[in-house]
Amino acid sequence: MSTVTLSPEQQRVFDRIEQSREHVFVTGRAGTGKSTLLNHLSWNTEKQIVVCAPTGVAALNVAGQTIHSLFRLPTGVIADHTIDQNAEVKKLLNAIDTLVIDEVSMVNADLMDAIDRSLRQARSRRHDPFGGVQVIMFGDPYQLPPVPPNDPEERAYYEDTYRSQWFFDAKVWQETELNIVELTEIHRQRDDRFKGLLNGVRHGVVTAEMAGELNAAGARSAPDENIITLATTNAIVNRINATELAKLGGKSLKAVAEVNGEFRKGAYPADEELELKPGAQVMFLRNDPDQRWVNGTLGTVDHIDGNVWVEVDGELHEVEPTSWERHRYTYAADTKTLTKDVVAEFIQFPLRLAWAVTIHKSQGKTYERAIIDLGTRAFSPGQTYVALSRITSIEGLYLTRPLRPSDVRVDDNVRRFMATVRQEQAARAAAASAASDDGGGDSSD
Ligand SMILES: Nc1ncnc2c1ncn2[C@@H]1O[C@H](COP(=O)(O)OP(=O)(O)OP(=O)(O)O)[C@@H](O)[C@H]1O
Ligand SMILES: [Mg+2]
Repeated sequence: MSTVTLSPEQQRVFDRIEQSREHVFVTGRAGTGKSTLLNHLSWNTEKQIVVCAPTGVAALNVAGQTIHSLFRLPTGVIADHTIDQNAEVKKLLNAIDTLVIDEVSMVNADLMDAIDRSLRQARSRRHDPFGGVQVIMFGDPYQLPPVPPNDPEERAYYEDTYRSQWFFDAKVWQETELNIVELTEIHRQRDDRFKGLLNGVRHGVVTAEMAGELNAAGARSAPDENIITLATTNAIVNRINATELAKLGGKSLKAVAEVNGEFRKGAYPADEELELKPGAQVMFLRNDPDQRWVNGTLGTVDHIDGNVWVEVDGELHEVEPTSWERHRYTYAADTKTLTKDVVAEFIQFPLRLAWAVTIHKSQGKTYERAIIDLGTRAFSPGQTYVALSRITSIEGLYLTRPLRPSDVRVDDNVRRFMATVRQEQAARAAAASAASDDGGGDSSD
């Protein structure tokens, strides 16, 4: 875990974080060791830190907690709703010097501002950004963006409130500085050619020749076993999992979800009809209140006796059905207020088959090989880049179909933000060199 020796550039970032109170966004291409540096920080810092991430899978990757469970935030848009904090949460939030967030690209502006407000509230420092806590964020905005809300009312709220959904457009950054450092050396892949191809996909500059190279490498039949499929949609993931399940012997359990109130079919949080068998590879869909698993934990079904017994890292857990509540927000544009009610409930085991996962769930992971299934199209900016950059070498790449130009997309807000970052950094470097050699600095681009 803390066995990796930091590279010089990772060490410099570590030192800067240790020796300052500034808010830092540590970015860099996939595999530059952002999460590794984060892990090192959590083991070696002198500061009192708390590590969190926007999703269960991402939190698991860095042994942290999800942002929602750490701050006890409600799901959905938080806006200016009251944040309930019990004494325990208050105490915890008062104890920290530094808050560390991994995969910050999936944190939306509303959540970033809710973190700010929670900390101010808990620490009774209403006028200090983040209540005086240092915030260190890790992530790559060329990877997956925050998931946009389904609800049109929530979307309207965003459009009225923020320049974009991205964390860097949160209001808190108008009050305090967001410092950016970029790691440049890639550790996940060795082969320079593959690194170059991935970089092209990251920036949306893939020539026909580059696409041809990736496609030629990926066009072959995949091994039958010990390989995970990364797919764009839940539909593809479900089809693959059903096929794998059919290969297992044994009796299957079919659990049918109980649905109360209005739940659009497309918005179900788990399978309406969940079929499981002993031996099936599964993933948990929710955090366990008793912390035996989190959203994203992988396990194997051991047996089924009404409830489902799942083995996780050699331990057997009894899993019961759980309830998801669906909320509806109403946004009044004139008063800019958002109100929220429970409108439906969905009850099912918090499990799904996991021979295949969505690309969203694979963020942050490293695989030696994987089958990448982009289906009809990659629909999110950064999606193809995340999928391809999970794999350590081009020899581990299997494509179900050739890449197309439309699969490679970059979000305009990311281009805008990163361009500003580069300008500011160039200006600062020029100013520093002017100061150090008495006016010799010139500003390049
Ligand atoms: N200093 C290092 N020495 C050796 N290996 C390293 C070093 N830093 C990172 N790695 C390895 O490189 C791989 C990628 O690292 P990591 O997952 O931290 O990258 P990341 O920047 O968080 O990637 P992503 O953007 O995909 O989340 C891991 O297998 C990690 O162990
Ligand atoms: Mg990472």
